[in-house]
Amino acid sequence: MSNRTFFVGGNWKCNGTRESIKKLVEELNFATIEKDCEVVVAPPYLYISQVRKTLKDEIQVAAQNSWYNKGGAFTGEISPDMLKDVGVKWVIQGHSERRSIIGESDSMIAKKSQYCLSQGLGVMACIGESLAERDANKTTEVCFNQLSGYLAEVKDWKNVVVAYEPVWAIGTGKVATPQQAQDVHLAIRGWLSDKLSPEIAAATRIIYGGSANASNCHELAKMPDIDGFLVGGAALKGPDFATICGACT
Ligand code: G3P
Repeated sequence: MSNRTFFVGGNWKCNGTRESIKKLVEELNFATIEKDCEVVVAPPYLYISQVRKTLKDEIQVAAQNSWYNKGGAFTGEISPDMLKDVGVKWVIQGHSERRSIIGESDSMIAKKSQYCLSQGLGVMACIGESLAERDANKTTEVCFNQLSGYLAEVKDWKNVVVAYEPVWAIGTGKVATPQQAQDVHLAIRGWLSDKLSPEIAAATRIIYGGSANASNCHELAKMPDIDGFLVGGAALKGPDFATICGACT
């Protein structure tokens, strides 16, 4: 059993209205959150303040993205400084949807991540391979390349949580088997040990994302190098998300 605190993030993506988010927050406030689990929810930017003001303090609030500096003439962007100002503690970076749809590069993701960390925010650093890359036996190569992208800028990893999200499992219902996920998590931990240190590797939470839900979370959580989850669809259902948070017990 590791001494890493279990970590569950809820990535609400581009979903919600003031009314639906009010209901989801009520469900989360009612839920009993396992005390040995660090829980973070990531609303769309527009609803972060509403969520922070109404959600119980034991659940932290994250952003799903951020800009790479303190702001200024960058139309449409949101700076980590602004996010801190409204109570955000974590930021998701490098999500596969931003890599594939928005075209974010490793270097931009790394710059954003490092600036978030420099401002005292935690970063959920997303990596993961496509189905074609997995079928070509390139899973670890892809993940290591993406980790190297972060390493180009990020030197202090104490506030980094690595989120392994196989692209072929995101939103598909095709969850990785516990062994598939464990194999990649172990490889990631080995990379952290080689590139940073055994101590940092042992301390870094590596969480799984990709069709994690209330039914499959317990088997996944039993694996020694799975330290939690980054949850999409199931995070929009308060009771299911609370079950996932309790998977560490
Ligand atoms: O960031 C988490 C997300 O990509 C996983 O989505 O719906 O497969 O749980 P989902």
